[in-house]
Parts: sequence; structure tokens; C-alpha cells
Amino acid sequence: MSTAPIDATTTPAWTDLTAHLAQFRGDLRGWFATDPGRAARMTFDAADLHVDLSKNLVTDETLAILRRLADDVALGERLAAMFAGEHVNVTEDRAVLHTALRRPAPEGDADHLVVDGQDVDADVQDELTKVYAFAENVRSGEWRGVTGKKVRTVVNIGIGGSDLGPVMAYEALEPYVQAGLEVRFVSNIDPTDVATTVADLDPERTLFVVASKTFGTLETLTNARLARAWLWESLQARGAIKDTDKARTKAVSKHFVAVSTALDKVEAFGIDPANAFGFWDWVGGRYSVDSAIGLSLAIAVGPDAFAEMLAGFHAIDEHVRTTPFERNVPVLMGLLNVWYVNFLDAHTHAVLPYAQHLHRFPAYLQQLTMESNGKSVRWDGSPVTTQTGEVFWGEPGTNGQHAFYQLIHQGTRVIPADFIAVANPAYPLSDGGTDVHELFLANFFAQTKALAFGKTADEVRAEGTAEEVVAARTFSGNRPTTSIMAPALTPSVLGQLVALYEHITFVQGVVWGIDSFDQWGVELGKKLAVELAPAVAGDTAVIEAQDASTRALVEHYRALRG
Ligand code: F6P
Repeated sequence: MSTAPIDATTTPAWTDLTAHLAQFRGDLRGWFATDPGRAARMTFDAADLHVDLSKNLVTDETLAILRRLADDVALGERLAAMFAGEHVNVTEDRAVLHTALRRPAPEGDADHLVVDGQDVDADVQDELTKVYAFAENVRSGEWRGVTGKKVRTVVNIGIGGSDLGPVMAYEALEPYVQAGLEVRFVSNIDPTDVATTVADLDPERTLFVVASKTFGTLETLTNARLARAWLWESLQARGAIKDTDKARTKAVSKHFVAVSTALDKVEAFGIDPANAFGFWDWVGGRYSVDSAIGLSLAIAVGPDAFAEMLAGFHAIDEHVRTTPFERNVPVLMGLLNVWYVNFLDAHTHAVLPYAQHLHRFPAYLQQLTMESNGKSVRWDGSPVTTQTGEVFWGEPGTNGQHAFYQLIHQGTRVIPADFIAVANPAYPLSDGGTDVHELFLANFFAQTKALAFGKTADEVRAEGTAEEVVAARTFSGNRPTTSIMAPALTPSVLGQLVALYEHITFVQGVVWGIDSFDQWGVELGKKLAVELAPAVAGDTAVIEAQDASTRALVEHYRALRG
């Protein structure tokens, strides 16, 4: 889709938002006191997600103008274009069809989504069938290592989208993991990562999944080679395989599989094409956990749970696609983020899951949101006309409360925060008759309340506080939060949460006119690392060619290595 982006800042809605801001005064206390319908009016359901937006710094009028902004930038058309497979990834001239990964199998031929001559539905279903069959083979023990033993540990080797999605989801769905099976994740090229991950593993019972969309990523290929060397050496050391090329090739065929869009490169690495799982260039790395990139997850939790997760994704896809904007949760949340970034000067956005199983969710969202919307040019190459991608960050509650919440409560910056909770815990434990999950969730409710309504100086004084510390103990309130609650962290709910943030990210990208699906900003550093490698290894000519700072740092490093 090569349509020029609409400059949001020149739209009537933007002008109205600017005027609205001039007389805007956030007053959550006052708004709630005088408007008993506010909470109900600003709370929405999307599939199983119950989303309360009422503690945000918006009035009905703000929301109405933001919805007009969505119309002014043709958000509906852009959403439809994405779902239809138009090339909304303009700088790479690609369709963006992660939503097709979770479409239910079509009932009749006429229902198939065909894009650029490719029967997307047929290909997705074929690959899912392969993934599920392989997952079942490993789970049932039918798949055996080179010495005939069942797999006990799967090691996913990947980075970025080929790591963060699978590891986040694996951690989130821990109660669904088959007993006796474990997945570990290697991503960093720091050799510590691979060394410590395999240190205690039994090579005869270990299966490596090399996950890389491009199969050209330095970290992943280096780690895959290190893992392969470890496999060969440790199998040979215990006399499990002979020291021959044939034995080594056979070991790889039983202990290495791959997921990639570049199946030729998989074969060149030495992995049997029969053990390779594919996906397509219209799936961005950070949007790929629901493709074959989720193979390690599918092995761990099984095809049924994986399919349930896909259904959860699809439920939110349908919500965003078909719900009017006034009740469309990802659209409203994306527009709220625009309001905060472009009008209330927010620089960051906190995501605070009150669910230990979601402890990697903020890290996952960092790639999703910041690799997508951290851009300074629009999809036609022209400069952006306003601020774009905010910094996403977070930690699970209550850990964050004892670390950085001080700044959210009393710091000088606006930090919109999403609080995420599940009603039913995976581990319903009690402590001396107290349901510990309820104690946990009391914190979830308390924090958003404290942030919204604060504590006035008079309230502090009324507690008998000495006057000299009244100011320090006063809470301004008016700190914006969104509360998201789900019945339990099921595979479906996990899919819903991920899809929610995928679409929020898209909405913001459309308003800013940027291509949320490329990531050219990561290329320069990658290229320079390859160019600098000889310098680090001591090539004086390359060292001399560096700028003064880099040269001195490399020399200092070399001196420390001795
Ligand atoms: O360097 C960034 C990136 O391209 C991400 O977008 C991607 O998820 C990651 O690297 C890994 O890429 P690949 O799956 O091709 O190894």
C-alpha cells in the first residue's frame, strides 16, 4: 500500500485536540466524584479481557476527539488493508499478515485468503499440521535421539522475535507444560548463555530448535554452531557416537530442527530439510510467536493448548476488525497512548502484570512496541511530524512496587501504566487462612486507586503528620492507569493479551504515519560489529581505522585480555 501517510498534525481532530489541551485539567478525583457513570462508561470487554480505561486522564470529549483523529488518519482503512494482505509494510514491500496465522481453518474453498497469489490459509494450515505432528512425536516419545532415548529438554536457539515470544509464552503457560519436558532458551551471543544452558544437560535427551526467520543472524548461527559442537563432543565423550562425519550428521538429524523462512540456509547449516518448519516474509519476527517460531512452545504445551492460544489471538483480531471504535479496546488504548505521548508529554509507558507467569511480558512488549514504532521517518521516507514510540518497560507486581513505583507515584513525569491481573490463580495457596492471591490482587486494586486519587495535604495532616513532612507524604493523584483483568491466564487469554498489544502498536503507527513492520534501525550496529570483529581480535590496521574513542576502548580491552 503506497498511499502517502496522512499527517495527523494537519487534521481537524489534531487541531481540536490542541485546543482541548489548552483548557484541559486532569481531575480524576473530581470526575469520579461528580460522574457516577464514568467507570461503567469507560469500561469495555474484548473477548475475555475486561478493560477499565476510566482512570485515564481523559474526558468523554477527549475520547470523542481521539476517535475523530482515528477517522481523520483513515485508521479503519489501514486496518482493513492489513487484514486483506495489502503491502502495508511499505519499506520492505510486504504484506503484514500475522493475523492470518490464527485464522481458523476455512470451511470451504471460497473462504480462503489468497494474497499475492499465495493461498495463505492453506499454507498456514499445512505448516500447523507439521508443527503439531512433530510436537506430538516429541511429547509422546516417538521422536528419539541418536541413541534411542526420548527428549527431555528442548533448547530454543533464537534471538529477538525468535526468542522473546516463545520464552515469554513458555513462562506464561508453565502450568500447561507436559511433566518431564522442559524448554530452555539461548539467545545472547555472550558464550555464557549457551555454556550455562547446556552445562547440566544430557546430550542424548536434548533437542535443539534453531529459530531464525532469516537464518542469517550472527547470534543464532554462532550459538547453533556452539550447541552442535557441544552435542558432538559430549556424545563422543560418552562413546554414544563415533568420531566420523556420518555419525555426526546422524546426530544432528536427531537433535537439531529448525524454523525459518530461509529453508535453503537451514539445509546449508546441515539440518535435514525434513526437520525444518517454515513461515513467510509477511510475518514480522516480533509478530511470529504464533507461527512455527512457537515450535518449542507447541512441544511444551501441546497442540491443543497452542490451538487455544491461536483462538485467543483470533478473538481479539475479530474484536479489532469488527467493533466500532467507541468500544474497540485496542483502538482506544492506542489512541490514549497517542494522547499521552503527543499531548501530555509522556516519554514512557509502564506495563505491570500482576501475574508472576507474565514476568517476561514487559520484555516481550519492548521488542513489539519499540522495534515497531521507534521511528523518525514515515512510510514514505518523509520525517515524522510529531513524537513517536514511547519507551515501554515494566516488571511484575508486586516486585515493581518495592523498586520503581515511588517514581510513578511521586515523580515529575506522566507515566501511563497498564495493570494486568487474572482473577483465578494457577496456584491457589493460602497462608493461615488468607487466600494469598487475594492479598496479591488487593495490591493491584490499591495501586491504581492510589495513583488515580492520591492523598491531599489535608488528608496527610489529618493523620497527625508533622507539618515539615506533609509535602513529602502528599500524593498528587491524577496518575493515569488502565486496568486489564482476565478470568485466568489460559492459553487463550495469553493470545488475547499479545494480540491486544499488537493492535495497539499498529494504531499508534498509523496515527504517526510510520511503518510499524520494518526495523532498519538495528542494521547499522550489526554491520559495524562484523566490521569491528577483526579489530577486537587484534588486527592493527582495523584498530587504527577507528575513531579515537572506539580505538582506545578496543586497545584497553585487548590490554585487559592480556
Ligand atoms: O535485529 C532485529 C531482528 O531482525 C528482529 O526483528 C528479529 O526478531 C531478530 O532480529 C531475529 O531475527 P531472525 O529471526 O531472522 O534470526
